[in-house]
Amino acid sequence: MTATFSDATVERLIRISKEKPLLPETFVPWHETIREEEQFMPESLISLQGHPLWETLSPVQQRELGRHEVVQVMYSYAWSEGLACLFFNRHLLTLSPESVEYRFLLRELIEEFRHQEMFSAVVTKLGGKPVAPGFWHRFFGKWSVKNMPADCVFMSVLAVELMTDVYGKHIRRDERVSNILRKVSELHNIEEGRHIFYTKLWLERFTANAGFIRRSWYSVTVLLNLYFMRTLYVKTEIFERIGVENPEHYARAATQNLKQKLGEHCLEDALEFVQSFNGFNWLTRPVWRWVMRVEI
Ligand SMILES: [Fe+2]
Ligand SMILES: [Fe+2]
Repeated sequence: MTATFSDATVERLIRISKEKPLLPETFVPWHETIREEEQFMPESLISLQGHPLWETLSPVQQRELGRHEVVQVMYSYAWSEGLACLFFNRHLLTLSPESVEYRFLLRELIEEFRHQEMFSAVVTKLGGKPVAPGFWHRFFGKWSVKNMPADCVFMSVLAVELMTDVYGKHIRRDERVSNILRKVSELHNIEEGRHIFYTKLWLERFTANAGFIRRSWYSVTVLLNLYFMRTLYVKTEIFERIGVENPEHYARAATQNLKQKLGEHCLEDALEFVQSFNGFNWLTRPVWRWVMRVEI
């Protein structure tokens, strides 16, 4: 990213948000029925695909696994965006209402609330029963948005946005996936592009002159967020629902498989971002390799 944070740039982002609003109510063809031959998620994103156990599932079970996992994905987006909104509200109180930052964050809040409503509509449309995050997950999520310094929370928000953006790109490009999910992903992809652009500009103030400790801290913050997002998708309960014998065994295999796949195909943007502020060093590199299975 070579651009620098300037009022003119942010004013332009605010203008686009106002002049080209994307309303989920009209942008997504909610009235369409999802046909039996359509998928809910590209196979490449389904946790177990690529593992030998994937072949033991019937086509119906494979499709069902996609449905349950895309529900987890949408639920996780709604949940993490709800947390981000809590933080944006907290951060707004430190800003002056006529500042560009304040006005941009209001636009971002408006868009994020629309996204949450859209994700919740997808879960309903798919007849989903999301498996909620565990106690510690919820505890750390809420604690950090209420107490962590703004730069760290913005770093967390960006990490989640970069990851959701990759999923969105894969879903919107796969023509075998239902049009409803593809339009949801397209809308999100467009608006998150602006949020990511803004957040990167904002964070440059902090990363530009950060020393070793701070860079390492930011790097680990990104890593932890990616880790938390990854753990929200694969659930033993889902394997029970699709009716496999020994669901724990399947869930363990799927966790390992997803870890491998995300490391290979989905973390490019996040890694590039961490690289941009020199967040990989002798301390953080081994942790990234171990937790995310990435080659850096
Ligand atoms: Fe969003
Ligand atoms: Fe966003």
